[in-house]
Order: sequence, then structure tokens, then C-alpha cells
Amino acid sequence: MTNWHVRSYDTTDHTATVRLLEEVRSDEEGPSFDLTDTVLALREDTPAVVAVTPDQFVGVAVGKYEQGYARVLALAISPAWRYRGIGSALLQALENQLIHAGHRRITTLLASGQFGELAFRNRGFVKTGLTLYEKYEPLRPVDVTTVERWGGTLLTAAEWHSLAGMAEGKQLVEQRLLLPIKENELAETYGVVTPTTMLLFGPPGTGKTSFARAVAARLEWPFVELLPSRLVAAGSGGNLAAELRTAITELMQVERVVVFIDEVDEIAQSREAVGPESQSVVNELLKAIPQFRSSPGRLLICATNSIAALDPAFIRPGRFDLVLPVGPPDAPGRRLLLDRFLERIDNKQVDVEPVVAATELFTPADLASTVQRAVAAAFHRAVDKGERLPVTTEDLLAAARSSRPTISADELDRFRSDARAFTRS
Ligand SMILES: Nc1ncnc2c1ncn2[C@@H]1O[C@H](COP(=O)(O)OP(=O)(O)OP(=O)(O)O)[C@@H](O)[C@H]1O
Ligand SMILES: [Mg+2]
Repeated sequence: MTNWHVRSYDTTDHTATVRLLEEVRSDEEGPSFDLTDTVLALREDTPAVVAVTPDQFVGVAVGKYEQGYARVLALAISPAWRYRGIGSALLQALENQLIHAGHRRITTLLASGQFGELAFRNRGFVKTGLTLYEKYEPLRPVDVTTVERWGGTLLTAAEWHSLAGMAEGKQLVEQRLLLPIKENELAETYGVVTPTTMLLFGPPGTGKTSFARAVAARLEWPFVELLPSRLVAAGSGGNLAAELRTAITELMQVERVVVFIDEVDEIAQSREAVGPESQSVVNELLKAIPQFRSSPGRLLICATNSIAALDPAFIRPGRFDLVLPVGPPDAPGRRLLLDRFLERIDNKQVDVEPVVAATELFTPADLASTVQRAVAAAFHRAVDKGERLPVTTEDLLAAARSSRPTISADELDRFRSDARAFTRS
């Protein structure tokens, strides 16, 4: 169970940190850090993160800036909490702090075979010479600034793993995006072209935004969502087209980035259907696409609820490499989603099969709210009766019966015919 989480170190963690560092140092597979150095660094407001459970202090990672680079001074995890991914999560959070402080090259000293080596390897550190592990961060410090100016973030790998179902989409991403990057030289000899533009379409709440974020998480590229409202607010005179151009121009300087434009139909409706202001936005977007196509390392993902309303110029071949339908989950998908949403509930007596059967056409968002309503009902019952009664299958079925799926049968038909007409993969 993952009832731990990682957060920034603060001074009230000092005692627990020192105690853990001392404890960890005395066990045989224990890491070989310099306790004095680490404790002194902590006094000086050095970057550090901790892993805690509701009642325990289970891990810590401490970093330090040296001239021109950054070093991981110590990584310590309470012996009972090892091999659950806490080490990698701590390192990832620490790396985020170091990279924000402008450091790209991160090193650490490890004895071979010591605990923690795996966490460093999982985070992409490679051995140089005998014991020096170092990692070159995918983002340049200057890129961090640009990405943040446009409201972007680095997502954690968890966002990819927590995406339930979507097996086809995930496989496509692995094969078409990840593999050519990993097998870069081989891909080049075959002339493989990695997709750089992707359009997701499907009814509301089906997971388009979640999928786009998960792709960025999987690539470990920063994720920047360009919201029309934010663009207008940022720009002078509220000129959306001009702001869009500025954003794209600046983001094109970033070495690796996923740019996401949600509800693209709102800004790229058929030019005949709308006024001149919106025409220039469509033109700006049309100009942005070739820029993405000519620069590997950048991925443009657009999403829409109504692909048929998009300007036809936008979906002509040669514009989007991939045009993917994102529909309501099938039965296996719903099973996975329900399992995922129910995972967090300890007190339950649930058979998901009847719930899977009773939730046809439900989107992930519908399923999440169904589970929430079932949980609320069980909670109210517990308060009424003064007893810790579990969440039951019947609670879920009752919640499912009383909700109407976002997608109607008509809409599903329309989506299916759009999928036949527009999908390109
Ligand atoms: N595959 C999935 N696994 C787990 N949760 C999911 C999945 N897909 C969607 N969700 C959850 O369902 C909700 C709606 O998803 P999301 O916002 O990604 O849908 P959307 O297609 O972008 O919707 P809209 O068209 O309204 O923008 C979110 O809370 C998201 O966390
Ligand atoms: Mg969305």
C-alpha cells in the first residue's frame, strides 16, 4: 500500500532526520554518506526532501550545491520501508529542487552494492569511473524558466502508471514515441519518423487531458498546457493569436516539451463559421504545426470534444501525425478504473463485476463520481448507525442507477462514426 508521500524538508524534521541517518548508517547494507556533512548542510537550508506516512518518518534525501554542479549527499530509507519505490520518489523530488536552483549535472558517491544504488539507477543515474554516479537532467535550467513562464510542470512517472485502461493508446505511445527515442540510431537507419503532433478526440470526461499528461510523464518531458484564457490574460490587448505565436516561439526554444491545447475546437472552429479574430487564431495554429514537425523533441497534443466542428484545414493529412479517438472505456477498462478508484477504500465488501455491467457508457469521470457517491452513502450510514459499516456492492449499484452517464447512446454513435472517419495512427 502506498500510504507514504514525499514532501520538502522543513526544520521540524531535523530530529527525525538525524535519527534516521544514524540508524541507517549502522545497518550492513547501509549507505556510506558523511553524516557530519549532511547534518551541517541541513542547517544551511540545503535542498532536502522527506518521505512520511501519517505516523512515521520513513525516508530522507539531502542535496547540496557545489561549484557548478549539484550533489546528492545522502539517501536514507528506514529498513522496513525499502524496495517500494520510496528511494526513486525521494530522488525525483530532490532532483526537482536541484533543477529549479539551476543545476543540471547531479552527482553522488555510492559504494558498489550499497542500498540506494537501485533508486539512483531507476532515476537514470549512470556510473562513471568507479563509484561516481551522475545524471544529466533532461531540462536545461533556461528551459525550466521558459516552461514555468507558460505555466508548465514536470510530471512524475506516477501519472503514466495511474492511467487505467487505454491499452491501445499506451501501446502506441510506447511503440511510436518511446521506442524510436530509445533505439535512436537503429530508428534512423530505417528512416523512422517520430510523431510530433497528435490530436485526441472524444466525448467529455473520457480522459483526453489525462492521456496527454500521461504521455508527457512517460517521456519525462515538461508538460505545458496552453489555455486560451491564460494566453489572453498574459498578452497585451488580449490578442489571442499574437500570444499564441509568442508562446509557441518561446516554447520551441525548449529542448524537450509537450505542448497541450485542450478544447482546440473552441479556438479552431471552421473559419467560415466564425469571425476574423478567430480566423487569425486558426492561422496561427496552422503555422505552429509545421514548426513542431520540423523539430524532434517537441510534441504538440491537441484535444477536442467535437472533431467534426474543427476547421477542415486543421485535420488534413500532413497536419497531425496521429489522430486518436478516446472513447468511454469498455468492460475491462471499467473494471480497471473501478479497481483503481476502490483501491483507496479500506473498509469495503465489493464485487465489481455487477458494477462493471451496470455502468455501460460511463466515462472515467462518471465512474469516479459514482464511487464517490457510494462512499458518501456508506459514510452517512456509518454516522447514522454509529458503526463502521463497509462500502458495499449495493452502494455502488445504487449510485450507478441514480446517475446518468455523460454520454448518450446517440453521442456514442456519433463518436463511433467520427472514429471511423478521422482516426489516423
Ligand atoms: N484512464 C484513466 N485512468 C484513471 N483516471 C482517469 C482516466 N481517464 C480519466 N480519468 C479521470 O477522469 C476524469 C476526467 O478525465 P479528463 O479530464 O482527462 O477527461 P477529458 O476527456 O479531458 O474531459 P474533457 O473533454 O471534459 O476535457 C479525471 O478526473 C481523470 O483523473
Ligand atoms: Mg480535458
